[in-house]
Amino acid sequence: MDILLATRNAHKVEEIRQIFAPLDFLTLIPADACPGLPEEVDENADTFEGNALIKARTLCAASGLWTLSDDSGLEVAALNGAPGIYSARYAGPGCTTADNNRKLLRELAEVSDRRAQFRCVIALCAPDGREWTVQGICPGTIARECHVGGGFGYDPLFIPDGYDRTFAELDPAEKNRISHRGRALQNAFAAWRDLFTQ
Ligand code: IMP
Repeated sequence: MDILLATRNAHKVEEIRQIFAPLDFLTLIPADACPGLPEEVDENADTFEGNALIKARTLCAASGLWTLSDDSGLEVAALNGAPGIYSARYAGPGCTTADNNRKLLRELAEVSDRRAQFRCVIALCAPDGREWTVQGICPGTIARECHVGGGFGYDPLFIPDGYDRTFAELDPAEKNRISHRGRALQNAFAAWRDLFTQ
């Protein structure tokens, strides 16, 4: 059974492959390997779930294949859930990761409540129009300064609950085990494995 992955991010493709490896009858096809798909999808919903579904629906319609997509971001309690769906462009159009992290530190400069969570929603669309979503959440706090290491995005600022280091300082395998995306993928595997075997 073929499943199109609605992402061009090689790290995400690898993470999805690892989680779904036990279902060895699945062929996971990265968007890059499927010619003729739209390069950009207008993610204009106001929730992670809505945006994940837009991506999966669009590429499912274009390819005729079962399609899996994800959408994720950071929600900060003291900022009423911002940057949320705007995580990638928090500091404005064309901004860099460093701009986003600087803006977040600025917004929280006088704030003692540092609670935040990463959220990831994974959507699955079937060519016959059926749709499913699952999500994963990783709770934590926002550090007072960047702790650079590996990772990307807000990793240098996010300390997951139960740890004294940021995502950027964790071993990548450890981050994947507890991250919002890792948890969402584990939930997807548990929820959908029977669907794939029918
Ligand atoms: P995407 O939906 O996975 O592309 O993520 C959207 C944005 O959320 C990214 O550009 C990052 O700013 C942020 N983000 C999502 N997941 C992570 C993560 O694991 N670490 C750091 N930032 C993340």
